[in-house]
Amino acid sequence: MSLPIGHDKHQAVRTMFDRIAPRYDMMNRLISLGLDQGWRRIALDLARVGPGDRVLDLACGTGDMCEAARARGATVVGADFAREMLRGARQREIDASFVAADAARLPVATASVDVLTCGFALRNFVSLPEVFNEIARVLAPGGRIALIDVDRPRSALVRFGHSLYFDRFVPWLGARLSDRDAYRYLPESTAYLPDADEIFAMLDKAGIQQVAKKSLLLGTAQILTGVRG
Ligand SMILES: C[S@@+](CC[C@H](N)C(=O)[O-])C[C@H]1O[C@@H](n2cnc3c(N)ncnc32)[C@H](O)[C@@H]1O
Repeated sequence: MSLPIGHDKHQAVRTMFDRIAPRYDMMNRLISLGLDQGWRRIALDLARVGPGDRVLDLACGTGDMCEAARARGATVVGADFAREMLRGARQREIDASFVAADAARLPVATASVDVLTCGFALRNFVSLPEVFNEIARVLAPGGRIALIDVDRPRSALVRFGHSLYFDRFVPWLGARLSDRDAYRYLPESTAYLPDADEIFAMLDKAGIQQVAKKSLLLGTAQILTGVRG
């Protein structure tokens, strides 16, 4: 399958998430074997989210990260461009604000955010440099980021087992329980994701420093962190 780019990608991703929103949380728990919520907590730990922090959760989806950040006493705003995902977030009655917005054009004041989080969405953005510039703009000096996404394991053996699971089983399960095309796109979309070193270079160019990567579950997921210079 050829992956869409540019405006076609923007449209395809948005309509796909609007379509799968009702079963999104259930599928996330199944696919990650229940580990995804723990990874969000690790991301919040790494970004040292605490009471009074102003947190912007980019591409917030149905609000899992927003809920976890709010539980730590942060003031939370979630932004996403898929209205059905946002509807799911609002239905949870989390004490947070939700805004429909594109990650590259956020209706958020410059230097007004202490921590920017983003869960499993980097692959979906049309232009990572544009989004990173926008992240740097909204972060206050010293503001922290924690970006979670999937990853491909380095060890050949783990890579083989992971590929059976992620490239074969997940699409099969998705087709039965949710949406065939969306859960085929999920493994294929890892092709959009540059290596961590390339992402670090982009972040550095945008003004995010002290970048680091934490690998999760044998290298099948990752959290990228950094600080606004
Ligand atoms: C895999 S979901 C992750 C949702 C949530 N962050 C989580 O951890 O479960 C990806 C989310 O990114 C959102 N998204 C993708 N591209 C976007 C963009 N350009 N602007 C805003 N949201 C975007 C989608 O609508 C979707 O809700």
